[in-house]
This record gives sequence, C-alpha cells and structure tokens, in this order.
Amino acid sequence: MQTLLVTGGAGFIGANFVHYMLDKYPDYRIVVYDKLTYAGNLDNLKAVWDNPRFAFVKGDICDRELVERTVREHGVDTIVNFAAETHVDRSIIDPDAFIHTNVYGTYVLLEVTKDLGLERFHQVSTDEVYGDIPFPHRSKESDPVRPRSPYSAAKASGDLLTLSYYTTYGLPVTITRGSNNVGPYQHLEKVVPLFTTNALEDKPLPVYGDGRQMRDYMWVLDHCEAIDLVLHKGELGEVYNVGTGEEIENLEMVEIILDTLGKPRSLVHFVEDRPGHDRRYAMDISKIKALGWTPRHSPREAVALAVRWYVENEWWWRRIKEGEFQEYYERVYGKRQVLKRGL
Ligand code: NAD
Ligand code: DAU
Repeated sequence: MQTLLVTGGAGFIGANFVHYMLDKYPDYRIVVYDKLTYAGNLDNLKAVWDNPRFAFVKGDICDRELVERTVREHGVDTIVNFAAETHVDRSIIDPDAFIHTNVYGTYVLLEVTKDLGLERFHQVSTDEVYGDIPFPHRSKESDPVRPRSPYSAAKASGDLLTLSYYTTYGLPVTITRGSNNVGPYQHLEKVVPLFTTNALEDKPLPVYGDGRQMRDYMWVLDHCEAIDLVLHKGELGEVYNVGTGEEIENLEMVEIILDTLGKPRSLVHFVEDRPGHDRRYAMDISKIKALGWTPRHSPREAVALAVRWYVENEWWWRRIKEGEFQEYYERVYGKRQVLKRGL
C-alpha cells in the first residue's frame, strides 16, 4: 500500500483522514477524488495542498471512466471510500443523490478495484445500517442490517455490494461501521457544529422530539486511527464496528455544548421530531479492540473538544453559515413547530 485514492476526501472525515495519513506515513501518496458537492470544502485540505505527496481530482465516483483514468494515472493501489451523501435530514427531503452516490458510486469503485486488480477497497460505513437498537442490545458485526432512513438504506446497500464482491470475486475488501463522529471540519448541518455555532450566535438549538435519543459521539481522529488499523491489519471480507462503546443522550450533548460556551439553557427549543428518527445506536466494539484499537476519547470529551475547535475556527464556519446553508436551514427548520422552549 503506497498510493491511496481517498474518495470524498474534501468532506469532514475524509479530510481528517488525509491529514492523519500524510502525517503518519512519510512514504504514502494520497489522491483525493471528490465531486465537491455542498459538503465538499477545499478549505478542509488547505494545510496539505502544497504537499508533494498530495493530489486533488474533482470528480464523481459514479463516473467510471474518470475514476479509472485517475487510478491509472496516479498509480493508485488502494481505494478508501468516504464519498457519500451523509445527512439523514437531506435524505428525507430528497433521496435521489443518496441512491446514486452511496449505491451506484460504491458499485463503480468496486468494479474499478476488480478490473484494475487493486490491493484493497475499504468502505467507510456507519452504525446507522443496524437501525434503531433497543436497550440493552449492542450491535455486533454479524447482526442483520435494518436501516430505516433513505440514507442508511443506501449505505447498507453499499455494504452489501462490497461484501458480495468479496464472496463472488474474491475482492480484497474491508468495511468499518463508525458511530457519530465529531471534530474539525464537520459540516454545519450536523448536530454538534450546528448547535455550537447557533449557541455562539445566541440562536436557538432545535432539539428534535424529547432529545432523549442516544448517540455514540466519537472523536474523528480516533475513527481515522481505526480505519488505518483495519487497512493494515484487518481481515479481508470482514466488517469492524468503530465507536467508543458508550452512548449519551442528545440532551447531555446539548448541556456539554452550552456549559463549554457558558450559554443559557433557554437557548434550547424542542421542535418536531425527525420522521423515522432512530432512538438509539449502540455497538459492540470488541472485534476492533481485539485487532488492537481503543478509543482515546469518551463521547463527553469528544463533544467538548469539538466545541472548542469551532470556537477557535470561526474563519472556517462563518463562510458556510452565510452561504447556501441559510436556504437549507429555512427549509428544514423554518416550518418546524416549536414544542417547548428551554431545558
Ligand atoms: P461529508 O458529507 O462531510 O463529506 C462527504 C464528501 O463526499 C464531500 O466532500 C462530498 O463532496 C463528497 N461526495 C459526495 N458525493 C460524491 C460523489 N458522487 N463523488 C465524489 N465525491 C462525492 O461526509 P462525512 O461525514 O465526512 O462522512 C464520510 C463517510 O463516513 C460517509 O461515507 C459516511 O457515510 C461515513 N460515516 C460518517 C459518520 C459521521 O458521523 N459523519 C459516521 C460514520 C460513517
Ligand atoms: O451514526 C453515524 C451517523 O451519524 C452517520 O452515518 C451520518 O452520516 C451522520 O450524519 C450522523 O447521523 P445522525 O443523524 O445521528 O447525525 P445528526 O448530526 O444529524 O444528528 C445527531 C442527533 O441529533 C440525532 O439524534 C438527531 C439529533 N438532531 C440533529 C439535528 C441536525 C437534533 O436534535 N436536532 C438537529 O437539528
């Protein structure tokens, strides 16, 4: 493994992974292949742009010809696929791009991996494929997938296609299923950056439903370390859950944000719930632990660290908040009924 094609590398986790890998492996080259949708942001790659071991190609993973050409021209041996439509609320409004990118796009990358005989295809997936998990169960990699949103259904399809290429063609694939990441460069549509930047501007924090949904908030660089480990030590054809193994209620996440910023509980607005909102995600992480990975941050530490990053990096989020995002915000939150104000 020497030259990695990081698809979706201009997005949140992909960009963190690029920084992490260039830093850790002085002999690796990384080619980011990204369509630059609303979620792709070249500011995320500013710090590596002049690195001679880094290259950027603007392209769609559904464009087989361009993917193939990029792989050949750059001598790529490994594909790590972060490219996806990722926001559940957007998948509820308009699932179309989710099906194209998350299903057909994954298929294209698998075909290229097969036809050009690449060393590895790694699929970055999500705990959402397991669906809503009743307490006290924790999802194991062998559990059936039961996705409940167009986003998670499309991601589950990508996983199943990936595994089918292992079974049918013996393709060297691995899959990681990560929990909710937080950290630098996360788009403002996601809850922690949205609530942090709203609180910084003394705007309401729109908490869906009763706010008692449970999520395993993980520091993004912990996730990157896990992907790195699976790339180097993971068994082919295997799936690995990646999370802290601990969940907190959204209300606790909100309290951490407000307390870190010294903002009042009155900013909380309970609003109409997300349709089909999964109440709880919870994973058993013993398989990746046995491989040699352990999370460095708890969900509480991860959320607090992320909040501080947004405090210190207004240059990064201000431009997003003032752009197309305002239209999106109005569409998703404008007509949402406020059920209760204040915590
Ligand atoms: P993101 O939305 O921040 O970034 C996605 C990136 O993919 C963007 O740069 C976008 O331009 C690019 N992209 C979208 N469609 C493309 C296409 N057709 N061709 C090429 N590039 C395209 O996403 P993220 O939060 O960084 O998530 C990355 C991956 O990790 C996704 O596969 C997601 O399902 C998975 N994941 C995310 C989380 C999370 O908490 N954010 C958790 C677990 C797994
Ligand atoms: O679990 C992994 C998944 O985490 C990834 O696969 C997805 O790509 C990523 O978007 C994320 O999905 P969630 O739907 O869990 O993340 P989001 O940040 O949208 O929401 C987190 C929780 O906060 C969820 O319970 C919904 C709630 N929420 C979210 C928003 C945006 C609110 O209460 N209010 C909000 O405005």
